[in-house]
Amino acid sequence: MSQLEDGISDVLNKAIRGLGRSLSEVAQALGMDEGRLQHVLNGDWDDVLLGKLSTMLDLDTQALIGLPLYQPDVSEVIGLKRIIMPYRAWSVNTWLLEYEGASLLFDTGWNRADILSELNGLRPDVVFLTHAHEDHVGGVEALQALGMKIISESEALQIGEFQFGKIRIQVLDLSGHCVPTASYWITGFKKSLWVVGDAIFAGSMGGCKSPENFTMAAATLRKGFEQLDDDCLILPGHGPMTSVGLEKASNPFRKHFA
Ligand SMILES: [Fe+2]
Repeated sequence: MSQLEDGISDVLNKAIRGLGRSLSEVAQALGMDEGRLQHVLNGDWDDVLLGKLSTMLDLDTQALIGLPLYQPDVSEVIGLKRIIMPYRAWSVNTWLLEYEGASLLFDTGWNRADILSELNGLRPDVVFLTHAHEDHVGGVEALQALGMKIISESEALQIGEFQFGKIRIQVLDLSGHCVPTASYWITGFKKSLWVVGDAIFAGSMGGCKSPENFTMAAATLRKGFEQLDDDCLILPGHGPMTSVGLEKASNPFRKHFA
């Protein structure tokens, strides 16, 4: 069982912040004081309260209540590796795709020593970046020093499309959690893949610093979800792999983007 990036508290806090609601406003709507709401947000809830909160925040009630038991049912694919590395008290993903002679890395993790040790002498042809948060780009300088080609999110968005043998990569803008964010839709591999950075996780979304960013995140995600098939695998920057279809059905934020 792979641990999800977020639990119910995280989702509620991200939704409140993303929608620009104040705690006092939410507390008042629930008929409680702010102190009590804080306890609720820290885990002192029941299904009735979660129902009221999810309605208020336009979250999917069943998906929210079911989040602690949610595990995306997707199988690993040979040639695709999730490299999980430490990031402070948490962890961060880097994705390595090796197929028919092409070797591509997506993000670098936080600590240069960790990515060098994980690659164990392997030299990917290209390292694509999703966004410039420290937990995703901490290994850039070390990889650059070894002569690897790095393509930043801005360059990727500008270029728009890449081809490596049979592998085709189309760049989709997923700005919102971080601006800019480049995501990579990969076809020509055994499964179609979508490397999304922190735009979306299994059962959650990346946190947004303002309602404007949240609106942008929802809009850019919606565009991607409209374009990609349900069986396309989603490779997030944190937590387990999932798919477009699974997140359409089981992500508490689904009404905002699907
Ligand atoms: Fe991030």
